[in-house]
Amino acid sequence: MQEEIINIKNEALSQIIEAKSKNELEDIRVIYLGRQGRLNKLTKEIKNLGKDERKKAGFLINESKNTILRLLVTQRNKLQESAREWFDPTTPGIKPKRGRLHLVTQAIEEIKSVFEKIGFVRVRYPEVEWDFLAFGSLNFTKDHPARDNWETFFIDTQAHPTYGPMLLTPHTSSGQVREMWRVKIPPIRMINIAKCFRRQSDVSHVPMFHQFEGLVIDREISMVHLKGTLDYFARNFFGEDRKTRLRPYNFPFTEPSFEVDINCGLCKGKGCKFCKAGWHELGGAGMVHPTVLKNGGIDPRKYTGFAFGWGVERVMMMKSGLEIPDIRLLYSSDLRFLKQF
Ligand code: FA5
Repeated sequence: MQEEIINIKNEALSQIIEAKSKNELEDIRVIYLGRQGRLNKLTKEIKNLGKDERKKAGFLINESKNTILRLLVTQRNKLQESAREWFDPTTPGIKPKRGRLHLVTQAIEEIKSVFEKIGFVRVRYPEVEWDFLAFGSLNFTKDHPARDNWETFFIDTQAHPTYGPMLLTPHTSSGQVREMWRVKIPPIRMINIAKCFRRQSDVSHVPMFHQFEGLVIDREISMVHLKGTLDYFARNFFGEDRKTRLRPYNFPFTEPSFEVDINCGLCKGKGCKFCKAGWHELGGAGMVHPTVLKNGGIDPRKYTGFAFGWGVERVMMMKSGLEIPDIRLLYSSDLRFLKQF
């Protein structure tokens, strides 16, 4: 029996040394030292041995149990130690990824704050609108060719009896008459920043974009106020090294009307793939047409006003430092691009 005891002990010790986890050690303990374990089974057989043999076997079993138990405890502590090594309190934690505002949202916030400093109030009007607000009230006749230029998405639903078909606003000018209806008696200093929709897609056009529309109506508002406001914005948003120019233009809702351009931030006016002739169009502007004032319930003999409507994306892309070669990148949801800003 003594040989058997020694064999069992050696088997147990080698298994303990090989064990990789506390659970494995517990299984080994049960197999060798448990109530039904291998050593206890031998203990039950001791009574069948001769007197001398019995004494030696009893001693050996006890000694084996103690040795196995000691090694079990040592090994368990060792495993615990090495598990503890994994927890190093000085290791920097895994930081959750930080989100950020989309480039366009950042631009909207900046534009809003530039205009708020000179007393403009940001408003929002429906982005799904009636034809009358987007076109009719703005002096577009039913067959006006300018309607085609806007490449509007019309909604396939019943037309309003007075305001006509439903559409996705092609420009923020559709907020002009709504603002006049809301305020009723000027002064008005509106900045309307909203989504616009047109059936267009290329390097400098996206089907969903944003415009910001300024509208100022009060007594004796003149071109001088408009020019001063545009210059103020250019200085505060683009910085001193960017130039603007005005071109005569035609919008049915302003008279006189013009387009405001700014020199290209990529080529600084030389001409490149993005700008072609060195200039980017920012958007339109002009003095509010008397018919539009009338449609808004405002007496054009008492009040005059100016308006401008520019593209948020274009304006943002023209800011120096942002070299974005294709406007569609802004809405591609490509995080490799967006994470740069
Ligand atoms: C208008 O939308 C006029 N409502 C602007 C206006 C307001 C004139 C008030 C007078 C008084 P226009 O179609 O040019 O004008 O668009 C204005 C600007 O919106 C453009 O210069 C451009 O910056 C931006 N824009 C127009 N279409 C797109 C498009 N598909 N993608 C990105 N930006 C666009």
